[in-house]
Amino acid sequence: MHLPGSVKIVEVGARDGLQNEPKTIPSEVKLELIHRLADAGLPTVEATAFVSPKWVPQMADHDTVLRGIRRKTGVNYPVLTPNIKGYENAVAAGAEEVAIFGAASESFSKKNINCSIDESLERFAPITEKAAADGVRVRGYVSCVLGCPYEGDIAPATVAHVAETLYSMGCYEISLGDTIGVGTPLKAQRMVDAVAERVPMDKLAAHFHDTYGQALANLLAVMQLGVATVDSSVAGLGGCPYAKGASGNVATEDVVYMLNGMGIKTGVDLDALAATGRWICGQLGKTPASRVAQALAAKAAG
Ligand code: HMG
Ligand code: MG
Repeated sequence: MHLPGSVKIVEVGARDGLQNEPKTIPSEVKLELIHRLADAGLPTVEATAFVSPKWVPQMADHDTVLRGIRRKTGVNYPVLTPNIKGYENAVAAGAEEVAIFGAASESFSKKNINCSIDESLERFAPITEKAAADGVRVRGYVSCVLGCPYEGDIAPATVAHVAETLYSMGCYEISLGDTIGVGTPLKAQRMVDAVAERVPMDKLAAHFHDTYGQALANLLAVMQLGVATVDSSVAGLGGCPYAKGASGNVATEDVVYMLNGMGIKTGVDLDALAATGRWICGQLGKTPASRVAQALAAKAAG
């Protein structure tokens, strides 16, 4: 069985994890979360989203959050930018890495960013051009790669087309989002196989939500094909405001525990991570969705 020797984890809890929370979370809490995650050894901590506050009110403090980060050497703090306005605001606030986010479903694209797939790609072009001139790194997301809340099944060829376009525009990495967590392992492998014909495997990341409890299995399946970058959210927080019913990303604690058990390096301290998950869940008044976090807490309680 082919498996990577190490996996890069992209922690999305402070953005994907919090964007759907109904109550306004103080910026200081978001900043403490970001700092704790970086201290736990996560190499990339997605920080916030420079999106319209009318669309996603929870991310309205993007400026305060990005400017308030106490940056740790070697850690990346990317932010989402849906258009050139978001890009310019993000860079003015100190962004060194941004993420553009498209979809493999026309309906989801309309609901999420109010334009068609082709229009979104046209909007992204000036971002990647400006970023290349500014020396800012750009990551590309493709949503609904294993199914859409409005259209159902999505053809792997459509995912491959959007991924290839983002890659050819200059994205250094393409994150494949199972936005509503409907995928299963063989389907995930077929999708990644199709994308890898157009984008090198080592440029792909798996961004799997865990709505149907399949995310870990799907991750293992695509890691066997060579995917070595995984997006996850501490305590399994999250969901997308424009994908009703979708639950959080796969929990970072669960990913780290699985990889530790297989001898695959991540550089993440599981205890510090789990403590961070308990702390942020305390702030939000919920219990961690992570099964590993629950098991560790039960063990500690004796
Ligand atoms: P629009 O309404 O079509 O935009 O929204 P517009 O250009 O017509 O502007 C309307 C208003 O928004 C104007 O303000 C603009 O200035 C303002 P007004 O004149 O009415 O006062 N505006 C902005 N304000 C702040 N920052 C900006 C910005 N742009 C315009 N960047 C838009 C289009 C893309 C802006 C909107 O649809 C939007 O912000 N969508 C974001 C939705 C979102 O954040 N979704 C969640 C993240 S995606 C996700 O979770 C999936 C992912 O995790 C992967 C996966 O799981 O699959 C990444
Ligand atoms: Mg997501």
